[in-house]
Amino acid sequence: MEKGRTVIVGAGGFGRELITWAGDAHLAGRLPPLAGLIDDAPGALDGFDYPVGIIGSIADFAPQPDDRLLMAIGTPRVKAAVAGLLGDRGGRFATMIHPTAVIAGSARIGEGTILCPLSLVSADAAVGRLVSVNALSSIGHDVRVGDRSTLSAHVDLTGGVSLAEDVMVGTGAKLLPRVKVGAGATIGAGSVVYRTVGPGRSVYAAPARTLRAAQPDSAAR
Ligand SMILES: CC(C)(COP(=O)(O)OP(=O)(O)OC[C@H]1O[C@@H](n2cnc3c(N)ncnc32)[C@H](O)[C@@H]1OP(=O)(O)O)[C@@H](O)C(=O)NCCC(=O)NCCS
Repeated sequence: MEKGRTVIVGAGGFGRELITWAGDAHLAGRLPPLAGLIDDAPGALDGFDYPVGIIGSIADFAPQPDDRLLMAIGTPRVKAAVAGLLGDRGGRFATMIHPTAVIAGSARIGEGTILCPLSLVSADAAVGRLVSVNALSSIGHDVRVGDRSTLSAHVDLTGGVSLAEDVMVGTGAKLLPRVKVGAGATIGAGSVVYRTVGPGRSVYAAPARTLRAAQPDSAAR
């Protein structure tokens, strides 16, 4: 097991989930012990009962050389900003594979990516850096997932789907084989997506339709 300590970045709902999942990964010898969470809201865990607490703010946190950070922020654009900030201070993000996740031997997983319980990455899939794959989500054979993208729980990316960078996929969404999704797009919860989604677009429902066109800044990212 790596030496040092694990620090969760963000104490929202995903951060609280990761307290348990990181503990499981530690017991499986895959992560150093969890020291706590960092969040700019010092009271983010008030009213909850966890064995670890907030140990600092993101704004002020100075990572130690052996710290392994776990990105618990789901929104890709915020993820990018926070990862940049902490990376500039020497922070290194841990890749967390929950012991119940299943990964094909031919799949590739980027640094800083998190695979939550019962998630699946199938043959020859390539998952980028700082990707969040929530519980029970499935990444099919030959799928590409771009850096910082987030799959909420119960997402189904079928064979050959390709997500560019910074894509947010809502819970329960299904993407049909070989569908391509552009950078910064959002796929609404429960969508069934059967054709290309352009960069920066938001789509929703089944079959998915455009909710709004790309925003000027999202297309440029
Ligand atoms: C698609 C989505 C991004 C749109 O968010 P938004 O821009 O705030 O849109 P609004 O909530 O204003 O909804 C706009 C319209 O689309 C409808 N709509 C929004 N999301 C929808 C969805 N997933 N399926 C069907 N209809 C949806 C709303 O009912 C509303 O319809 P109306 O104008 O007739 O009232 C969001 O609804 C969504 O699905 N997010 C994913 C959430 C998720 O899975 N999170 C997981 C982490 S916990």
